[in-house]
Amino acid sequence: MKGDEFATTRWWEGGAVIYQIYPRSFADSDGDGIGDLAGILGRLDHLAGTDASLGVDAIWLSPIYPSPLHDFGYDIADYTGVAAEFGTLADLDRLVEACHARDVKVILDLVPCHTSIAHPWFAESRASRYNPKRDWYIWADPGPDGAAPNNWISAFGGPSWEWDATTGQYFLHSFYPEQPNLNWRNPGVVAAMHDVMRFWYERGIDGFRVDAIQAAVVDDQLRDNPPFQRASPIPGLGARHGQELLWNIDRPETHDVIRGLRRVTDEYPGRILIGEVYAPVERLAGYLGHGQDDEFHLAWNFEPLLTPWSSADFTLAIERAEALHPADALPSYAFSNHDNPRHASRYGRERARLVALMLLTLRGVPTLYMGEEIGMIDHPALPPDRRFDRAGRDAQRAPMQWDPTPGAGFSTGTPWLPLVDPAQANVADQLANPRSLLSLYRRLIAARRSGGALARGEHRSIFGLAEDVLAWRRDTPEERLLILVNMGEPATSIDASRAGPSGEVLIATGDRHGRVELANLELAGLEGLVLRL
Ligand code: GLC
Ligand code: MG
Repeated sequence: MKGDEFATTRWWEGGAVIYQIYPRSFADSDGDGIGDLAGILGRLDHLAGTDASLGVDAIWLSPIYPSPLHDFGYDIADYTGVAAEFGTLADLDRLVEACHARDVKVILDLVPCHTSIAHPWFAESRASRYNPKRDWYIWADPGPDGAAPNNWISAFGGPSWEWDATTGQYFLHSFYPEQPNLNWRNPGVVAAMHDVMRFWYERGIDGFRVDAIQAAVVDDQLRDNPPFQRASPIPGLGARHGQELLWNIDRPETHDVIRGLRRVTDEYPGRILIGEVYAPVERLAGYLGHGQDDEFHLAWNFEPLLTPWSSADFTLAIERAEALHPADALPSYAFSNHDNPRHASRYGRERARLVALMLLTLRGVPTLYMGEEIGMIDHPALPPDRRFDRAGRDAQRAPMQWDPTPGAGFSTGTPWLPLVDPAQANVADQLANPRSLLSLYRRLIAARRSGGALARGEHRSIFGLAEDVLAWRRDTPEERLLILVNMGEPATSIDASRAGPSGEVLIATGDRHGRVELANLELAGLEGLVLRL
């Protein structure tokens, strides 16, 4: 799309693919071992704009702002600056311009729920109980015997409250103690964050991935959370540390906060808001608003990411997504990101081809995490002195592997995190090999970009072909596709003839070409097919 159409349409609805860049680890242009904005600019050919590109529609940059790095950029000290190690605002402008020239959108991370302890707002807030910014954060008197005000536990473990001796109160932090929660009930906070958004929209940023939004508002009476009671349909969502997250997460008032973010976004045509919402889909659906004009445009459905390798569990995750998303909202999938072990490690590298096929053929908007297109795994053995994240997420943040040279094409210096295995997996080698995982990703994305059924088709599951075989149709009036996925290791024979007598192989995880008969089709172990009927 070009020109006005590019600027104003809901571009993510036509088969778009989003690519997550963890800036420290993507490409280092100046040899300091830390990825930077000029590095990203130098690697745009990988992403879009040439015949050898992946062909993504948008990049999402994890935080690029000044930060003391207690949570590696998710503790922000200046919302409208660029961290010196990443470059300058001018570098970002250049990157945005170059991306737009390739029809690639640039999405920044918005971290609205907490600042860094080093943010000037917090310095003011903690200076005295009478400071005008005192109420920009959430302060509370101690409970009996000086204990924390209530029993809330932070996401990374330990109490959600930090004692501040200067003013004799506790402050709230949903994540690390170095990330004090902002108070979204204070209109000054709302206005300041809206101004941050406008600052970036005015500079041409195409949208935000909104961080940890479920913690935006907490109970104004600070009531204790009850002990864990309900079994969440998906382990890991909805309860934590033996508590129901009743009063400090997912509060109804949070939706007013998101509506405000959306109103600001709607001042600028064509921009997108994507929510990070770790919730079962029935809760997630509530963040996608009511009709198309409210709250988030997209929110990741993390159920598949948290699902073990089992055809029954995958079937459940897909059916729940299809049944529970609002009719006018697309599901959005990711199988890896900077917070979770990579799927090539969770499931095994041999399954990465099948994951790619599922991710890019399910209805909805997929997000790739940098490196998954070459099958990157977590660093298996980080030395103790190269572990920085107290929550243990360094292994999935290791540098991108561009080529088989010692620095992997990532850096001419010493990478801030050790490389994993550039000789086994790198972009240059896989680009030259039509059978590589990268080539499979490129074929799948190209098929989506052609605008047919993979981009816009309806989804309809087909059940009962074989125990480990998932199948679904993606149909438009012009194109009818059958997707077959054998999650099992053994080969298995299926009869899929109710979809038709035969199908033409559009894309295969293995070496299959031509037409296949559907009545008696033998799928190899871990084979996936996209067939045109
Ligand atoms: C989000 C980020 C994660 C960060 C947390 C707190 O979950 O993805 O990296 O630690 O929010 O900001
Ligand atoms: Mg650098």
